[in-house]
Formats: sequence, structure tokens, C-alpha cells
Amino acid sequence: MSELRIDTTNLMADAVGDEHGVTAADEAWLAEECTRVHAEIDAARAAGGLEFFDLPQREESISECEALAADRRGRFEDLVVLGIGGSALGTIAVHRALAVPGSGTPRLHVLDNVDPEWIHRALTELDPKTTLVNVISKSGGTAETASQFLIFRNWLRSALGDAYRDHLVVTTDVEKGVLRKIARAEKLASLPVPDGVGGRFSVLTPVGLFPLAMTGVDIRGVLAGAAAMAERCSIGDPVANPAYRHGGLMHALERRKGKPIHVLMPYAQALLDLADWFRQLWAESLGKRLDRDGNEVFVGPTPVKALGATDQHSQLQLYAAGPFDKVLTFLGVDTFRDDVPIPNDYPEEEGFAYLGGKSLATLLDAERRGTAVALTEAKRPNSTIQFPTIDAGSVGEFLMLMEAQTAYVGGLLNIDAFDQPGVEASKIAAYALLGRKGYEQRRAEIEARLGGG
Ligand code: PA5
Repeated sequence: MSELRIDTTNLMADAVGDEHGVTAADEAWLAEECTRVHAEIDAARAAGGLEFFDLPQREESISECEALAADRRGRFEDLVVLGIGGSALGTIAVHRALAVPGSGTPRLHVLDNVDPEWIHRALTELDPKTTLVNVISKSGGTAETASQFLIFRNWLRSALGDAYRDHLVVTTDVEKGVLRKIARAEKLASLPVPDGVGGRFSVLTPVGLFPLAMTGVDIRGVLAGAAAMAERCSIGDPVANPAYRHGGLMHALERRKGKPIHVLMPYAQALLDLADWFRQLWAESLGKRLDRDGNEVFVGPTPVKALGATDQHSQLQLYAAGPFDKVLTFLGVDTFRDDVPIPNDYPEEEGFAYLGGKSLATLLDAERRGTAVALTEAKRPNSTIQFPTIDAGSVGEFLMLMEAQTAYVGGLLNIDAFDQPGVEASKIAAYALLGRKGYEQRRAEIEARLGGG
């Protein structure tokens, strides 16, 4: 399997100057920090923590997803996933990158919002007789997913009677939560979200593996890529370990060079939703008020999603000429799965002739390389993660690289990258406003605040 290549040349002071790039002094600072974090990560893994690293080896859980998918495949035309955040974004991203439309597998609809018009349209357009619904919630209690479950279960029951059970798969915590209780009581097919793996790190658990297997994605290939990257990201050498290298340099630029905005810009339509998935991973893991010692630190880079070449005609002006507060990461592809030649129909027209006889892949690649050069000359640090091609292995590698890098930068920031107290606070406020039992005090506080506003 050929590997993802990570080019960090343009993050360095040699490329963009001392003021905007990583200098020898920054590297020395980073090396010291890296030794500390590597020791912490090693110790956490030895104690059975950071389980996401080992998900490709969880054979029992992988086979369980494959067996259930094999049983359900061929019987349904549509697969609806009900879930939000980490229970949805990985599936959307990997499906977009790897699913082959029209290959006889069900159409995937990930309904990761409670927009009433959107859900109404799905209920109207889909046929319950040929639809499988996979409700996914680690906690089992997220209001958006719970309400969708209630709606879709009712929709299935009204059309199918008791046979609704065969059209539902519940993916949730092994023991805890209302969904687990209901799955047991109603004898619904169910899959576990393992302990110790939070939503945004869960794409390689049944959360992502089941819907991806159902829709024909080569999950074994994705897992093999992730396993290979986990190995590369387990070594202590801060330069040879790609998560340490890439994450460390991004961190150094944020902390020491005032660059808190991190743009991920794939030059491939198929990789676009990986940028969405990364946005959640980076933001929810690293955006924290408290450090691990309880000090208020208010840290976290701001991830931004962009698309090449489209956003060259939208955001690039800002990236090249605006404030010096960004680091860009491009995703490039060596060989696209398909290419389209550009006809040479106007050899006499200079404005078109240079395109004739080339292909769209060549054009897109030139756009990416040209943008990297122009930004480097404008002293804007940028890196490139190069996919040999877009396949299961390279996508798996990318997922693991970003997850490992996130854990590592969490360590560098001395924060807990695996909790999300900010999100919990908003969930609690919503429960209170909706009159959930046990949240009366919070409701009174919110009403007083709203009344006072
Ligand atoms: O990454 C996370 O932990 C969150 O984005 C969750 O995935 C999201 O809030 C949904 O939670 P749950 O799966 O418990 O419904």
C-alpha cells in the first residue's frame, strides 16, 4: 500500500521567513514539548486509554458490523442514518470519498439535523417498506437524534406493524442510555459504541462501519490504512512520526507565530466532507476553557473548510493578502480515479491553447501547486498531505493521522481533547427549555436571563 505523503516544507522559516515560519528555536521548543507528550501518550495507551488508536484491531466488532450488513444488504433501497456530530460526520465524509453510486447498494441519507422541512421531505419521499433506519447515539439521549428516532420508529410502525423491528438498527452505548434500554425491550438489532471512544473519534467503530459496509464501502481497506497510520504515529521521534510532525508544527505556528486559523483545503470533490469531519474533530477536541490543571486558558485553533480550486475564486484573496493569522493544509491527489481530457479546439487562441491536450487532473494539480507557491511567496505557511489516489487505504490513513494529531496537540495544549463541556452546556439548556424533568432550576435561570434581555 502506498502511503500518504506529508510535505511540511512551506511551514518552515526557510520558506516563509522567521516571522511567519517555524525556526530552529521553535523546533527546539517543540522537541522538548514532544518528549513530554509522547511519554504521556505512551503511558495512556499502556493503561488501555486512547482506544481510537486500536480500533482497526477490534475484530469482533468489525465482524459484527459485516455480518449485520450482509444480512440486511439486498433487502433495502435506502439507508437512513439518524445521528448528529460525531455520530454522522465520519460516515458522510468516508461515504462521499469512497462509495460507488449505482453499485446495487442502498442510497445513504444521513439526517444530521432536525430541520422540519428536510425531515418532512425524507418521510414523504422514502418508502418505509424498502428503508432501513440506523439510529446512532453514543449517549442515547441527544435531543435531535431522540426526536428523529421517535418520528421514524412511528413512521415504520404505522406502515409495517410489528415488522418495523426488522427495519431498525440501533447503535449506542453497550450498557447505558435510553436507546440501549429500548433496543433490549423491543428486541431491535443493535451494535455497540465502545467505551472510551467519543463521538468524533468513532468513525472506525460500528458508528461508521455499519452504514459504510451497508453502502458497499471497503471497510477492511479503510481499517488497514488506519492501522498502518496508527503504527507510523506510535513512534517517539517527533520528525518521523507524522502526527507529531504535522500537528506539532501547526501548534508551534499557533502558539509562537500568532496563527490560530487552520484551513483544510482538499483539491478533490470526493475529499470535501473530510474537511467537515476534521472541523469537528479539531474544534470540539481543542477548543477548551480549562487546562488539565484547572486553569482558565481559553485555547483552541479555529478550523476552516475550503475547496480547491473552487475557493481560489472565493477565499484565496483573504488567505493571500489578509491578516497573517492562518495556516493552510492542502489535500492533493497523485492519480484521480477518473480523468477528463481537455480538447484542443482553438490552437490559434492563446487564451485557450495552453489548456488544449491537457486533462482536468493536470489542471487541478497545477492550481494546487500554484496556490502553494503563491502563498509561500506571500509568507503564508502551508502544508500538503498528498494522497497517492483516493482509495480505502488512503482515506483510512487520513482519518487516523488527523485523530492522532488531535490527541497530540491536545497534549501540547495540556487540555483534555476528549471531553466537550461546551456542547454539554448547550444540550442541558435545550433540555431545560423543552421542559425535561430534572432541569427545572436551569429553566428558571434561563427564563430569568431571557426575560431580563
Ligand atoms: O464528538 C462528540 O462527542 C459529539 O459531537 C457527539 O457525537 C454528538 O454530540 C452526538 O452525541 P451522541 O452520539 O451521544 O448522540
